[in-house]
Amino acid sequence: MGKALDGVRILDFTHVQSGPTCTQLLAWLGADVIKIERPGVGDITRGQLRDIPDVDSLYFTMLNHNKRSITVDSKHPKGKEVIDGLIKACDVMVENFAPGALDRMGYTWERVQELNPRMIMASVKGFGPGPYEDCKVYENVAQCAGGAASTTGFDDGPPLVTGAQIGDSGTGLHLALGIVAALYQRNTTGRGQKVLAAMQDGVLNLCRVKLRDQQRLARTGVMNEYPQYPHGTFGDAVPRAGNSSGGGQPGWILKCKGWETDPNAYIYFITQAPVWDKICEVIGKPEWITDPNYAKPDARLPRLKDIFATVEAWTMTKTKFEAMDILNKYDIPCGPILSMKEIAEEQSLRDTGTIVEVDHPKRGKYLSVGNPIKLSDSPTDVTRSPLLGEHTDEVLRDVLKFDESKVAELKGSGALTPPARKAAE
Ligand code: COA
Repeated sequence: MGKALDGVRILDFTHVQSGPTCTQLLAWLGADVIKIERPGVGDITRGQLRDIPDVDSLYFTMLNHNKRSITVDSKHPKGKEVIDGLIKACDVMVENFAPGALDRMGYTWERVQELNPRMIMASVKGFGPGPYEDCKVYENVAQCAGGAASTTGFDDGPPLVTGAQIGDSGTGLHLALGIVAALYQRNTTGRGQKVLAAMQDGVLNLCRVKLRDQQRLARTGVMNEYPQYPHGTFGDAVPRAGNSSGGGQPGWILKCKGWETDPNAYIYFITQAPVWDKICEVIGKPEWITDPNYAKPDARLPRLKDIFATVEAWTMTKTKFEAMDILNKYDIPCGPILSMKEIAEEQSLRDTGTIVEVDHPKRGKYLSVGNPIKLSDSPTDVTRSPLLGEHTDEVLRDVLKFDESKVAELKGSGALTPPARKAAE
C-alpha cells in the first residue's frame, strides 16, 4: 500500500527539535526526507544528553526517524552546488535556523524561487515579524512568550513551564500542516510559497482558551470556575489555575491510595454535570443529588474545594486504576496520572504503534513515540534515524544523478567532509 505523501521530496535543513518534529511527521506520512547536516558535526542533538558514549543520543534518534542524512558544508562553493541541486529536486525545504542564517548562506526566498518556483519554503522561527523577530528561541522561551507559563502553575507560586514541548514539537506540528496545505494549493497554482510557523504563535494557539478567559475576566472581573473563586482575588490578567479543568466541567487532581510514597498515585477527576447523580452515589453522598447547595452546577461552583476534598476522601481508598475501573462503569470522566515508566510499559500503546521499539545499529533497541496520527490507508512504519552522512553517496547518485567523476570531485573538494579531515587530506 502506498503512503499519503509518496512522491513528495523534502530538503530537511532542520535541527534540534521543532523542525525535526515537522519533517519526521512528513516522513511518517510517506515523504522522502533528506536531512542536510554539517560535515563532522551534524545536528547538534546527536551529541546532546548522550546516554551511551559516541552513539547518537535518544534526543536525536527519537526526532529523526525515517530520514536520510547527507553531510554538506552549505557555505562551501561545491556544497552550494549540491544544495542548489537538491532545491531543484525537492518539493519542500524546511528550516529552523536562527533568523538570518539561511540568508547568510545565500538561500534567500528570491534565490530559492529562482532555483525552483514550485518550492515550498517552510520555516520555524521563535517570533513572527515584530520587535523580537531577530531573536533565537528555545522551547521554554516560547512557552513564556506564548502565554503558557503565566497561566500554568498554582496561584501562590511562580509561572511554570510544562513538560509537553508545546513550543518545539507543537510548532513543528503546526508547520507540517502548513506544508501539506501549501502542497495542496500548489496543485492548482503550480507555485510554491513560504510557510512560517512562529513558536510564540504556536504556543498562543494552544493557549487559545486562556485568551478567551482574559476577555471574560476583563468583562466580568471574576471567573467562577477558577480556584480563586470565591475566596481569592482576581487581578487584571488571567491567573494560574492550578489543576482546574479550563473548560465548563470542573476537574482537579486527587490523591489515590499510595500517594504517600508514589508521586504519581493521583487521578484527574471531572465533576461532569450530566453524571453528577452517579458521582454522588459512588462517593457515598446521595443526599447531594437533591441538596440545593449541590444539585445544580452553578450552586456547586463556590463549593468546588469542599466537593473535591470529599471525592478525594473516596479516591484515597482506591488505587488510581481501581478508581478508574469503578468510575468508568458510571461514565464518570477521569484519568490516571501515568508516569513515563507506566506509559513505556503499556501494552495497548505498543499495539497501536504509539510506542514503538526501534533497532539502531550502534545503540541497539530503544523505545520511541510512533506516529500519533493514524491514517487507515497510509500506515506508518517507523524506521531508525540515519547515521551522520549515511546517505550522502546514495543521494548524490540517485537523487542528483551525479556520475562517479562528479561524486569524486565533490568528495575531493572538502565540501562533504569535516574541516579536520580536510586538513589531513
Ligand atoms: N554547513 C555549514 N554551516 C551550517 C550548516 C551546514 N550544513 N548548517 C548550519 N550551519 C550554520 C548556519 O549557517 C549558522 O551559521 P551563521 O550563524 O554563521 O550564519 C550556524 O550553523 C548556526 O545556526 P543557528 O540556527 O544560528 O544555530 P544556533 O545553535 O546558534 O541556534 C537555535 C539554535 C535553535 C536557537 C536557532 O537555530 C533558532 O532560534 N532557531 C529558530 C527557532 C527554533 O526553531 N527554535 C527551537 C529549536 S528546537
